[in-house]
Amino acid sequence: MNPRDPKNNFPHARKEILSMKAYSAPLENRRNLLRLDFNENTLGPSPRVLEAIQSFELNEISIYPEYNILKEIVSKHYTEKEIPIEEIGLFNGADAAINAIFNSFGDPNQIFLTTSPTFGYYSPCAEMRGMEIINCPYIGKDFLFPKSEFKENILKYKPKLIFICNPNNPTGTLLKAEEIIDIANQNQESLLVVDELYEKFYGDTLLHKVDFKKNKNIIVIQSLSKTAGLAGLRIGFAFGNKKIIEAIKKVTGPYDINSIAVKATIAALGDKEYIDKYIKEVKDARIWIKDKFDSLDIRSHFCSGNYFLIWPNKDPNFLEDEMRQKGILIRNMQGKKIIDGSIRVSIGTKKQMKLFWDAYSEIDQK
Ligand SMILES: Cc1ncc(COP(=O)(O)O)c(C=O)c1O
Repeated sequence: MNPRDPKNNFPHARKEILSMKAYSAPLENRRNLLRLDFNENTLGPSPRVLEAIQSFELNEISIYPEYNILKEIVSKHYTEKEIPIEEIGLFNGADAAINAIFNSFGDPNQIFLTTSPTFGYYSPCAEMRGMEIINCPYIGKDFLFPKSEFKENILKYKPKLIFICNPNNPTGTLLKAEEIIDIANQNQESLLVVDELYEKFYGDTLLHKVDFKKNKNIIVIQSLSKTAGLAGLRIGFAFGNKKIIEAIKKVTGPYDINSIAVKATIAALGDKEYIDKYIKEVKDARIWIKDKFDSLDIRSHFCSGNYFLIWPNKDPNFLEDEMRQKGILIRNMQGKKIIDGSIRVSIGTKKQMKLFWDAYSEIDQK
């Protein structure tokens, strides 16, 4: 680029930003439809959340938010043993935690290691920091975790950051806690981030097994978008060693999470029964819809998340459009490595899966 050329005479973004591909998702015009496309909670939050928001007072709006009460509640929510407050970071959704981790740990030209296919926001964050990305593909028809390749890459390249989505979105692949800790122990200088957004749908968080005073290079991410129905309010958590959490918090604004999200989260976590009931409904619905697909002669893949993959008879674009006509949104995985040609369907309640099944069976006839 010639800086003297008048056409170039305006502020250019950093070179990493100019060359990166932005994360994009088809987020518009989804209201009043059955949304099985983003793995969100399909029923909405506990009624206590709405009550909390409706009881908002003027002075709660005019002052900056306070976070200590929420941190104390979160410290008791995920495990029997309390998680120390200084090992908890609150973020504007898990996405903001992910971005902050890259901002505080991602060095240009260093290696970012993850799997493929996986959640689509990791790569743009790595590109933003000028990192080099290594993706290890899941193995075979059952999408097994590429354990040997992953370990070899850790030993060979000593990546600065490693992300494991567990269970993985979109393959549902699951690694046991011991295996994750073993990966983290391969290189103490690599920071291993375990994205547990869908953990509740199999129910065994790594938080039960790690001690961040010893497992210093592990971060666990959780959020309330998929379980508690708070996707629109944007709240997420990162758990890790005190020093790691301090570093990540440095790159966020002091008041990034707004007061409505704080109050709503306190209400949502106060109604654990509602969240647990929703999770149980989804797990029951998963068994029901899996049985239906098992009786068909088409490829499907079910695992540990609130979603599954199918390889329909009809063209995925056609199926997606036809399902939308019937008021049901599903996600086309077109162009994604290994799962090209598939559709990802989120699992809601059994009633919602029956609606999906009726529409799907009518459209996807051979
Ligand atoms: C694996 C994974 N991580 C993080 C996120 C972002 O979640 P949040 O809504 O908490 O930002 C998503 C959302 O789809 C996800 O699938």
